[in-house]
Amino acid sequence: MIKPLDYRDGVLYFLDQRRLPQEETYVPCRTDQEVAEAIRSMIVRGAPAIGIAAAFGMVLGARRLAARTSGELLAGLEGVAATLTATRPTARNLFWGVERMRACALRCRDRAVEDICRELEAEALRVWEEDIAGNRKIGQAGQKFLGDGSAVLTHCNAGALATGGYGTAIGVVRAAVEAGKKLVVYVDETRPFLQGSRLTAWELLKDGIPLRLITDSMAGHLMKRGVIQAVIVGADRIAANGDVANKIGTYMLAVLAKENGLPFYVAAPFSTIDLSVSSGEEIPIEERPAREVTHLAGEALAPEGVEVCNPAFDVTPAAYVTAMFTDRGAIFPPFAENLARAAGEKVD
Ligand code: MRU
Repeated sequence: MIKPLDYRDGVLYFLDQRRLPQEETYVPCRTDQEVAEAIRSMIVRGAPAIGIAAAFGMVLGARRLAARTSGELLAGLEGVAATLTATRPTARNLFWGVERMRACALRCRDRAVEDICRELEAEALRVWEEDIAGNRKIGQAGQKFLGDGSAVLTHCNAGALATGGYGTAIGVVRAAVEAGKKLVVYVDETRPFLQGSRLTAWELLKDGIPLRLITDSMAGHLMKRGVIQAVIVGADRIAANGDVANKIGTYMLAVLAKENGLPFYVAAPFSTIDLSVSSGEEIPIEERPAREVTHLAGEALAPEGVEVCNPAFDVTPAAYVTAMFTDRGAIFPPFAENLARAAGEKVD
């Protein structure tokens, strides 16, 4: 299985996603600051993978602090949490991962510093394992909805590389293939960072899952011609009303899917769902550097000095979503009610 990250002898390794598909190299991170930089620079990316990275970042931060007392450690961890959460604003999992580690440190605050560090390490390893197990559940929940012989369109990379392993949207595809279905995946290249062409295409090829790479502007034409039977994407944050923030271009696909009478599926673990934001309007959208749009592999694609707009994510209103596949099963509209119920909240 593709290993997006690894943790050995107190060092966290990331498969460098900036260099794929040309090179398969791992970047070592020994401190929380190095983890924060890896997240910011997209060495590691994808909401669940960022959450796992942040959890290990808290472990490395706890060790770097070399605190003498648990009080000193807990106070120092607040700074580590701030460094990690300042990297990327949209994906809920980043904040969720840090919060889970903070809660773990608080639970064992009466113990010796070394014990707390060991507990934190065990917790980060659990976050990672649970993510993979959750992806498999997402896969099982979703695969029933993909028909044998169908063509499925996906955007960005919601595969093993974007998670602890296996993937969310691509996890559903993997589960369908494991169930014996023959699928073909249409992969949007996903401008400007090219997560589709560089990462999803690489993953699917490696696993022998049939695919066709397309540019983002081809999706509508292919849907209209009846080539595509379903759209499936991941998510960076899902609001309480079911609005979905995901890679820029997702909203366009959702509108096209509705117009063409196709199901639009979202696959995500519960760590992506943020019931504290009532709608997608409240989800912060990351603006990334202009150079991602103006340059490709160091080559200028646009005149120097041009003004650029580079929002990394968009919000798809819940009304466009047919179903969500989660680690707690498939969830259908009305999402406000059904997400709250699945989260274990009281529904009026
Ligand atoms: O900017 P990225 O590459 O981190 O964006 C990733 C996405 O938008 C994914 O679709 C999302 O995080 C889900 S990954 C399982």
